[in-house]
Amino acid sequence: MAAKYVYINDTFIATDKASVLITDLAIQRGYGIFDFFKTIGGKPIFLDDHLDRFYNSARKMHLHITYTPAQLKAIIAELMEKNDLPDSGIRLTLTGGYSPDGFQLPEAHNLIITQQPFLMNLSFNNTGIKVILYDYQRQLSGMKTIDYSMAIWLQPFIRENGADDVLYHHNGQVKEVPRANFFMVNEQQEIITAKSDVLPGVIRKNLLTLENHNYKIIELDFNLQDLDHATEAFITSTTKHIMPVIQIDGRPVGDGKPGKISEALLNLLLEKVKQH
Ligand SMILES: Cc1ncc(COP(=O)(O)O)c(C=O)c1O
Repeated sequence: MAAKYVYINDTFIATDKASVLITDLAIQRGYGIFDFFKTIGGKPIFLDDHLDRFYNSARKMHLHITYTPAQLKAIIAELMEKNDLPDSGIRLTLTGGYSPDGFQLPEAHNLIITQQPFLMNLSFNNTGIKVILYDYQRQLSGMKTIDYSMAIWLQPFIRENGADDVLYHHNGQVKEVPRANFFMVNEQQEIITAKSDVLPGVIRKNLLTLENHNYKIIELDFNLQDLDHATEAFITSTTKHIMPVIQIDGRPVGDGKPGKISEALLNLLLEKVKQH
């Protein structure tokens, strides 16, 4: 069931009537940014963090958002009211816009806001996922661009290796998975996530700034040898919160089961989500 309305530029319009022209740089060259947040029981979760990142991605990509964050929030609230989908995912997309020659970046861009039903699973995943290593560095890694070509191209590779996802590494350094940040717990019980050249994930940020606990959760670049000594690992994203990683390249992480620290961190994170 798709939502009834989307917002394009200055208009709320029926989803099946919404369109952009084929001269858009998103279609011609894959140029654009987006952000994605969820609503639970009609409440947007970590909305300010998502808007901060959306404006940052836009600025770094030389794209202008013509609305203030307050105006954008009002538009989102109106869309939510029109669609009446309490549990949903809302995607803000800003495409390059209509280019005169299919390459030059125009002054005006296309802002598209869509909503889809999405019911968040809030319980700890006791199965976990298996990942396979792949040497790759995302381009423009600090920005949430619409370019996921490598991730989509790798889908057969993931299937052939009996894995659920890939874990990117580059120059020996561990990075992230295509749609989530990666954390490992080391033998000193430190919980570490790559510091450089990864997307500043909203769940990653909210884990790094968790309060009232005794864990050491830090940004620290680490390499493949460090990964061999992980006692636990997990990925984080808006749609998964904390998902345990039980196997990397066919080798079990720790005892090969979802870890106790991962579960404890999910409970702390859910407390923070509830405050929203
Ligand atoms: C490359 C990449 N890294 C990390 C994340 C996780 O970010 P967030 O926690 O904001 O969902 C995403 C989300 O889609 C992503 O695309």
